[in-house]
Amino acid sequence: MIKPSSAFDALLPKRFERCQTAEAFAPSNIALSKYWGKRNRPHNLPTNSSLSISLGKLGTHTRIEPASRDVLLLNGAEIDPQSPNQSQSALFSRTFDFVNQFRRGQDFPLLISTVNNIPTAAGLASSASGFAALCKALCGAFALDLDDKALSVLARLGSGSACRSLWQGFVHWQVGTRDDGLDSHGIPIESDWQDLRLAVVLISTQAKALSSTQGMNQTVATSPLYANWAKTAEADVATLRHAIDTQDFDFLGKTSEANALAMHATMLAARPAVWYVLPESVAVWQVVWALRAQGLALYFTMDAGANVKLLYRAQDQTTVQNALQSALSAHEILWVNPWQS
Ligand code: PMV
Repeated sequence: MIKPSSAFDALLPKRFERCQTAEAFAPSNIALSKYWGKRNRPHNLPTNSSLSISLGKLGTHTRIEPASRDVLLLNGAEIDPQSPNQSQSALFSRTFDFVNQFRRGQDFPLLISTVNNIPTAAGLASSASGFAALCKALCGAFALDLDDKALSVLARLGSGSACRSLWQGFVHWQVGTRDDGLDSHGIPIESDWQDLRLAVVLISTQAKALSSTQGMNQTVATSPLYANWAKTAEADVATLRHAIDTQDFDFLGKTSEANALAMHATMLAARPAVWYVLPESVAVWQVVWALRAQGLALYFTMDAGANVKLLYRAQDQTTVQNALQSALSAHEILWVNPWQS
């Protein structure tokens, strides 16, 4: 069996010469056709391709410096590896398990300071931007000469969707066929579709109870709808690529919304059900459907969390803002220009 560490062996030099301070930023990304299921768990290899749009300047800044022991700071606070708070200790081990694979036994203790300008673990893909920024910063810290494709393969081993966070704009994560995963990485899609906009309706910024890995494994293992989901998602990626090439906003929006609903329906059919949607999320869907019935080009997508992401065009900014502020006054809304970094 091929070990996940084989990708580190294949892509990194045997010995690192030095360690220096380095910093990196990676944007978060939202999938328009989703990754929900692994064909190989330790390698984070997906059952289907996926396609995302970045969140511009929303993401993770990571700074790495040589230290006398391994330390992790999240948004300025030290994470205690022994913390009784499970999400803290799990974050520490998840980060340093990855860093250990990267260091492969070499003695370079690190102070890693990571700052998210988006809520952590709330279905806003902070692990995607987190692992992408970590990979870029590690590459700088050890003065490595890795291209974005190699960084994308390595970031995927930290969190699947992180392989799409190495670029701004649209990214296609190609599913790949190799057992070692070296061909399963992001590929940026050239596009100058400047008037595409996103909004995030914040329903809950609590960390989710069921991680995306747990949720997807349970869905793959028990949902009778799963085989169809994988086929649908693969076809949706092709449809979205066409919508991007032709800048057909309604085609893009319809496909993205239907893809998200198909993913959540597939989860709901798992035994027991996997469900991240809250009644307030559904209320937002209904507002979107009502506004669309009145002629507004507005669509939504949702991930493994209760927040709802909206897609619209810059020309409709004022109309969308006014309509949402009156219909959804209870919720904070983040307005995102995906092209502004
Ligand atoms: O990369 P993970 O393990 O956090 O999974 C991401 C899963 C979704 O956000 C729901 C879908 C996606 O493609 O980003």
